[in-house]
Amino acid sequence: MLLVEDGDRSQRATEDGPTEYRRLASGLNGMLDAMAEKDHEIEDRQRREIELEKGLRKSKKLAELGVLAAGVAHEIGAPLTVINGQAQRLARREVIGDDERSRLGRIRGEVERIVEIVRQLMELGRQHNVEKGELALDQLIMSASDLVEEELEPRNICLDIELPSPTPNLFANGQQIVQVLSNLLRNAAQAPEVSRIRVRAQQQENELILWVEDDGPGIPSVHHHKVFDPFFTTKPVGQGSGLGLSMVHRIINDHGGTIGVFDSTLGGAGFEITLPLSETVSA
Ligand SMILES: Nc1ncnc2c1ncn2[C@@H]1O[C@H](COP(=O)(O)OP(=O)(O)OP(=O)(O)O)[C@@H](O)[C@H]1O
Ligand SMILES: [Mg+2]
Repeated sequence: MLLVEDGDRSQRATEDGPTEYRRLASGLNGMLDAMAEKDHEIEDRQRREIELEKGLRKSKKLAELGVLAAGVAHEIGAPLTVINGQAQRLARREVIGDDERSRLGRIRGEVERIVEIVRQLMELGRQHNVEKGELALDQLIMSASDLVEEELEPRNICLDIELPSPTPNLFANGQQIVQVLSNLLRNAAQAPEVSRIRVRAQQQENELILWVEDDGPGIPSVHHHKVFDPFFTTKPVGQGSGLGLSMVHRIINDHGGTIGVFDSTLGGAGFEITLPLSETVSA
């Protein structure tokens, strides 16, 4: 009993002797089990709060970085248009051979890749005074899954959607929330050996919580604090620029919400988004 009083919730009473003693011991053990479980819940909640707090500090850093990057991107945009235009003009000349034409095609392809990165950077740095409206969460999830259908179908990935009934409505910018969801779904679909993605939502006190999880390899804990950084990617050059989750973070922050990463019970990566209820409305 003294050890339990000192906070050691692992101690249990021996359940033997007369019936009354056994009942008492079993009741006591039940109480200790419940207390241990509550301790875990509190620890979990605290851990999440620490991660989310870090997330908030990160969004400020990200916003500043986004503005800087957008300035640089703007300057890069004009010379890129010139390079692309000149390569296109050269490719149209009849005097050049197939080899030269294919090399010019390669130049244009790479320029287009940079243009896309520049576009994303400019988007990241833009001041987002977004227009919001009342939108049905299930519709937003369907729009996002339509966008990634081409990546899910060929790999036979099953998308489970578990929403509370009635489905909550969001007061949000639809296009941006669809962008958030499609980025998370696309990341899950691009992770190796994923066969299942689960999207869940729950209304809890004054917030709406959304989880997107998969059964892939997950994200190593050493990378948890880096995944929202611009340009953090583990994908090969040309396949990922590492801007997807930065944008997701930015949008959720603009909506007054938070986003965190966790190890899903499905075995892969899990993302938790919370949106304050002042920004959302019940159905
Ligand atoms: N569901 C997931 N499973 C495993 N790793 C993930 C998952 N989601 C994100 N990651 C990791 O986080 C990194 C950053 O993701 P992010 O979406 O920002 O960039 P990206 O997917 O690499 O490139 P981009 O989205 O710009 O095309 C990924 O490269 C990957 O290492
Ligand atoms: Mg991505």
